[in-house]
Formats: sequence, C-alpha cells, structure tokens
Amino acid sequence: MAAGQFAGKTALVTGGNGGIGQAIISRLQADGATVVSTDLVADPAGLADHHIIGDLMDSRFCEGLPAQAAALTGRLDILCNNAGIITRGVITETSDDDLSRSLAINVEAPFRLCRSTIPIMAEQGGGAIVNTASCWGLQPGPAHPIYVMTKAALASLTQCLGRDHAHQGIRVNAVCPNEVNTGMLRTGFKVRGLDPDAGVATLNQTVPLGRIAEPEDIADVIAFLASNDARYMVGALLEVNGGKPVG
Ligand SMILES: NC(=O)c1ccc[n+]([C@@H]2O[C@H](COP(=O)([O-])OP(=O)(O)OC[C@H]3O[C@@H](n4cnc5c(N)ncnc54)[C@H](O)[C@@H]3O)[C@@H](O)[C@H]2O)c1
Repeated sequence: MAAGQFAGKTALVTGGNGGIGQAIISRLQADGATVVSTDLVADPAGLADHHIIGDLMDSRFCEGLPAQAAALTGRLDILCNNAGIITRGVITETSDDDLSRSLAINVEAPFRLCRSTIPIMAEQGGGAIVNTASCWGLQPGPAHPIYVMTKAALASLTQCLGRDHAHQGIRVNAVCPNEVNTGMLRTGFKVRGLDPDAGVATLNQTVPLGRIAEPEDIADVIAFLASNDARYMVGALLEVNGGKPVG
C-alpha cells in the first residue's frame, strides 16, 4: 500500500481507545490521515489528532458526531464503526439490559453514524465506511447469542448500505475478525478466573496460522478496505481469521 495515500483525508474512528481502535488510528495516520477518535473517556495514549468523548448509547451524540468530526477537520472521508461490546452467555443467562445495551452500541450506533455520515460523504463526492463485524456474525459461535445476533445485523447493514450508496461513490464494507488479542478477549478469561496469557497461548494452538490476531492484523485490513486499493469492493464481509473458522 502506498505511503501517504490518505494524505488530506479525515477518518472518524469509534472505540478509538480499544485494542483494535488504537491500531486503526496508528495505521491510518501512518498513511497520512487525520484521525478523529471517539470513546467513552479520554484517549489514553493521546494518539488521535482529535478525540471526542461521548457515549454511543446516546442517539443524539451519534447523530451529531460525523458533523462534529467534519467541523474539526473540514471533511470526512472514512468512517470506522469499530466500537463494540460483547455479552457472554446463553439466552437464559442474559437480561433485557444486556440486550438493549448490545443492540444500542453494536447496531444502533453504527446505523445512526452511517445515516449521518452518508450525506456528508455524498456531498464530497464519496468516501469509505468500514464496519468491524465478526466471524461470529457470519457463522454463530456457541453461547453468545446476543453478540452473534448484533454482529449479524451489522454485517447485513453493511451489505444493504454497500448496495444502496455505491452510486454516490460511497463504499461500505466490513472486516470480520475471529479472535483478536485485545481487552475484549482477555477480560473473557479474567471473568472465568483464568490467566489471560495462558488463555491466549491455548487459543493460539487452535489457529492454523499458529496465533490469534493482533490488533494490527485487523487494522491493516481495515486500512485496505478504506483505501483506493479496494475501490471495486462494496458490501464485502471480509473474514480475517488466520485459517480458523468458527467452530
Ligand atoms: N477482540 C476480538 O476478539 C474481536 C473479534 C471480532 C470482532 N471484534 C470487534 O472489534 C471491535 C473492537 O473491539 P476490541 O477487541 O478492540 O475491544 P475493546 O474492548 O478493546 O475496544 C472496544 C472500545 O469500544 C468502546 N466502547 C464500548 N462501549 C461504548 C460506548 N457506549 N460508547 C463509546 N465507546 C464505547 C470501549 O470503551 C472500547 O474502547 C468491536 O466491535 C468487537 O466486537 C473483536
């Protein structure tokens, strides 16, 4: 990928403080993008060019966020709907609160952000939206029905918007990782009383490539989908799984 290919472009990245979010920010900046990050609290490493604190469960915050990002930098070329939460457990172990939180953050927020971003990108003559879905939204893994359902919805939204807005020069695609070595995955071991490093080492053995993904493995593919190299890709759900299908 050419260096500086995002020079002069602005990207808005949700969940910018998280494992994959931080890697996306670094990767897009390395190619010249100005990055506006957003998350619940301040950017821990101070990576982003601009950081907006807010809760994606707040519908009005989501509605206004793309315009806020565009006002800060003068444009909006790339939207990465990356923030997400995972609710674990079979359906009988889940609450209404689990359901509404996951739907709000994993589905409604990307929906609203796309809806507010598309007119801005259309006015500029195009743009790229990259959603972070999951392999688990394409093929359900066990004992996570809420998470799987929300990621399936995000995958479906990606396909719908990809088709509907291609004529405006807006490409909407999704990356679908399997396990990635971030806080989201590691806290899963902690809540079960297991050591996260030992848990990751065991998971590594289940992946044909020999290890689970690092955040950079996913951020590189997101950058590809956002770039001109993916200019003919629309509505794609790109699995990034090291050869490990959902089992
Ligand atoms: N880690 C994995 O194994 C894995 C696998 C497949 C897909 N994903 C997806 O990748 C994306 C990034 O996850 P990650 O692994 O970097 O996890 P992470 O927990 O490190 O990062 C998620 C970020 O989203 C933010 N966030 C959560 N709720 C929010 C809210 N209400 N408002 C604003 N921000 C909020 C968090 O504060 C956090 O910084 C998620 O959509 C996740 O579902 C992760």
